[in-house]
Amino acid sequence: MNTKIVKITVCGKVNDEELLEAAEILKGGGLVAFPTETVYGLGANALDEKAAKKIYAAKGRPSDNPLIAHISCMDELPALASEIPDAARRLAMRFWPGPLTMVFKKQSRVPDGTTGGLDTVAVRMPSDPVANRLIRLAGVPVAAPSANTSGRPSPTRAEHVIEDMAGKIEMILDGSEVGIGVESTIVDVSGEIPTLLRPGAVTLEMLRGALGRVDVDPAIEGPMAEGVHPKAPGMKYRHYAPRAEMLLVEGEAARVAAYINKEAKKAAEAGKRVGIICTEESRGLYPVGVLEVIGSRSHEETVAHNLFAVLRELDEKAVDCIFSESFSEDRLGQAIMNRLCKAAGYHIVRV
Ligand code: TXA
Ligand code: MG
Repeated sequence: MNTKIVKITVCGKVNDEELLEAAEILKGGGLVAFPTETVYGLGANALDEKAAKKIYAAKGRPSDNPLIAHISCMDELPALASEIPDAARRLAMRFWPGPLTMVFKKQSRVPDGTTGGLDTVAVRMPSDPVANRLIRLAGVPVAAPSANTSGRPSPTRAEHVIEDMAGKIEMILDGSEVGIGVESTIVDVSGEIPTLLRPGAVTLEMLRGALGRVDVDPAIEGPMAEGVHPKAPGMKYRHYAPRAEMLLVEGEAARVAAYINKEAKKAAEAGKRVGIICTEESRGLYPVGVLEVIGSRSHEETVAHNLFAVLRELDEKAVDCIFSESFSEDRLGQAIMNRLCKAAGYHIVRV
């Protein structure tokens, strides 16, 4: 398939002409990748089972992993959610449009092909002007997982999408780099107590500030014991992963650097190409290996923003093993550590 790549220029206002063709493709059952404020999405009509199937094929994604349906405004929610609890209204008031996904009991018109057979549906209202306008123009809810090949790091730049999706989908909207860099926060509001299923830029502290009690799905906190299933089926995969083996090192900065340097030297002596993920603050501490600076500890947003690009960069540089520093787990750090832990397949040492 020939994939049309269109550069989208946003100067305060989105030009509809550039988006109309993309909206027509979505209406006609085709696939369009588009920028959102979190990561790039791979969009299809969420109410069209056949279109949803094409997403799974293009990504190579297991079909039990449900998709998020994206809407452009509150009026579009009742067509998807059969009940909109009070907690959801409060979260929507504060955080929509934005990087928050809520899981609702679903309307019967939402096909199993979108929800992976669940009786709930995940819904997000993106704030990115291209994403929001595209959904509005398409006139249908847009199912969109991250626009990466399943298992690879999520795409935060158009080049990442082109790498993974060119030749497999009808169109890619190139909106250059996304802002946040990690996927949306997911909260299940379909049960009695709102429950965090995936951490993101809307942090647990922010959710609790809005709602009071919010539970946390244990799947977020560590690898799942056998027979235990995360509530967000996608959280069980070794996601976001670079091709190389990765080890996450926790502890006080100087000890972490000493440990990584010792291990990096050993690996290099064994003929391995070593990648190291460090920060602005620690970049001077590593004499051996391919260094990737992920951001600054004093500005965690930069770490989230660069995280997936750094993992892809290390793939590109064909390293055999990666040692990464770790981060505190409060606020945005929870999302950062969740993605890094998964990238490392929960291969973590404390020093
Ligand atoms: O930021 C984002 O959310 C991006 C952009 C494109 O909007 N999308 C995204 O989609 O990250 P994806 O498919 O990569 O991740 C969707 C996650 C998966 O972990 C999936 O299992 C979970 O949402 N999910 C979807 N529907 C669900 C449901 N009904 N109940 C529980 N989890 C659900
Ligand atoms: Mg994904």
